[in-house]
Amino acid sequence: MLLAPMGAHPRVFVTRELPGGALERLAEEHETEVWPERLPPPRDELLARAPHLEGLLALLTDPVDAELIEAAPNLRAISNYAVGVDNVDLEAAAARGIPVGNTPDVLTESTADLALALMLGIARRLAEGQAFVRAGEWKTWDPGLMLGRDLHGSTVGIVGYGRIGQAVGRRLEGFGCELLTNSRGDGVPLEELLERSDFVTLHCPLTPDTRGLIGEAALRRMKPTAYLVNTARGPIVDTGALSGALHAGEIAGAALDVTDPEPLPAGHPLLGAPNLLVVPHIASATHATRERMADIAVDNLLAGLAGRQMPHQVSPPAP
Ligand code: DGY
Repeated sequence: MLLAPMGAHPRVFVTRELPGGALERLAEEHETEVWPERLPPPRDELLARAPHLEGLLALLTDPVDAELIEAAPNLRAISNYAVGVDNVDLEAAAARGIPVGNTPDVLTESTADLALALMLGIARRLAEGQAFVRAGEWKTWDPGLMLGRDLHGSTVGIVGYGRIGQAVGRRLEGFGCELLTNSRGDGVPLEELLERSDFVTLHCPLTPDTRGLIGEAALRRMKPTAYLVNTARGPIVDTGALSGALHAGEIAGAALDVTDPEPLPAGHPLLGAPNLLVVPHIASATHATRERMADIAVDNLLAGLAGRQMPHQVSPPAP
């Protein structure tokens, strides 16, 4: 969708169509170009638009790095269609006094729902069960068929106890789980959490401190009957180490909404690992949540372009 006149250099670029009507509000106030493809704009397309850009609405798939920010001398507002902002160079933006917005809160409950779905899905072997039935292999009720492990009454380690981690915790209380939490070093020490948990679920942001947090050593601490669940960011888990741990039976399984690399290409070695459930980064993917995220992303951009504080601003402009 090109909302600006053909041949013009729109001052606002949105890197993908968004659900709901929020982009129309943006286009009412600003000449706006929306990238029309299903795949993200290639780097050269982003850089080509940079010299004219005043506002950018980006997705987590678009690296908004120092090079891009430098190439956009008129850029005044960056709005990220995600709560995570690891794709944006916050320091480079702050150095230029460019506010950066994100979309927290509205996706908390949907993301927590999916974390629970993944725990149940991997421990109760839902994907395997469906494949079995569809393949015509279901011949009888069998006392030993597809035995899994209970989520109810289990011990769950929540790494990152912010908004989403707490929403997961609230749900697990209803399952009678014992909760162990670790957040920025507070709570149960990570080593103990890994050793005692039946499920370890990740809800921390991706930062230099959390990149590779769950590597070989962490996986070795987990029980051989425990499951790893990741709805945060792929690079928090070392993919090679996870693949090795699954092949060696060091943990019972893993359920991932996010991966590294992302997307995980067909034929990637991780996909050959046993007891793995993977879905394509859909934790916030409900109609209502994605529309609310679009509303917030547009509100942030409109505010930033008008020189007002964004409703959800993660990076204060430099003084
Ligand atoms: C986020 O918002 O950071 C999620 O990963 C996508 O909704």
